[in-house]
Amino acid sequence: MASTRRRALGTALFAASLLLALFAAPANAIVGGAPAQTAKYPWLAAVGSPVFFVRPSGQFCGGVLIKADEILTAGHCVSMFRAVPGILTATFGRDELTGGAGETVAVKSVRIHPEYRETSFKDETVGHHDLAVLTLARPVHRPTAALGSPGSARTGQIAGWGFTSENDLFNTRLRAADVPLPGDAACKRAYGDSFDPSDMLCAGSDKADSCQFDSGGPLIARGRVAALVSWGYGCGKPGYPGVYAKLDSLP
Ligand code: ARG
Repeated sequence: MASTRRRALGTALFAASLLLALFAAPANAIVGGAPAQTAKYPWLAAVGSPVFFVRPSGQFCGGVLIKADEILTAGHCVSMFRAVPGILTATFGRDELTGGAGETVAVKSVRIHPEYRETSFKDETVGHHDLAVLTLARPVHRPTAALGSPGSARTGQIAGWGFTSENDLFNTRLRAADVPLPGDAACKRAYGDSFDPSDMLCAGSDKADSCQFDSGGPLIARGRVAALVSWGYGCGKPGYPGVYAKLDSLP
């Protein structure tokens, strides 16, 4: 059946990208972070799939509940699942992915930002309009995240289950960090034309950054989710802040 073939292809592509992610391991990751509680982020989802068996809870990205049955995540997290949304899951309330706390809900459909596209910067994939909305198979009874622009904020917070250092690729604990918001000029200096201030913003330093498996998770500023983890050159590399997808034009 075509759908079985598509599913097999999706799984194979995914396994390949995981290997890539592991071998292109960064020098640093949520550097400067500390363990965090999902109780503080009741709207934060671990986006994953049971087919991604190499990670507890199948987690590979973060996401943010914006309606009782809708999650916002990064486009690059789910673009390969467009044809098979039903193999995706969203898990809430699980501080430690190896445990069974919280609730897991299946995904019903995937909507990628219509202007989503990929370019590259050195070896990194650059996602433009890196946003997607996942519709859940059922509504959840949880608060939704407040969204808002960072305005003139100079710092923000990030949270995710991703890599914490070169020696800790297998972190499965939710962690959070405070990050500086260095501004568009600093980001242009780092990334040139790969950085598009109309749909991206930068955050982080060599002391605090997001990393692999944090994608799709929140950058919070002034108490509101302002952008989602998208891409960066390595993680925590001096002069190369993380790049986040702004939420101004939702898919
Ligand atoms: N693309 C990564 C992911 O899929 C996120 C990388 C963020 N990089 C950074 N330096 N902040 O999880």
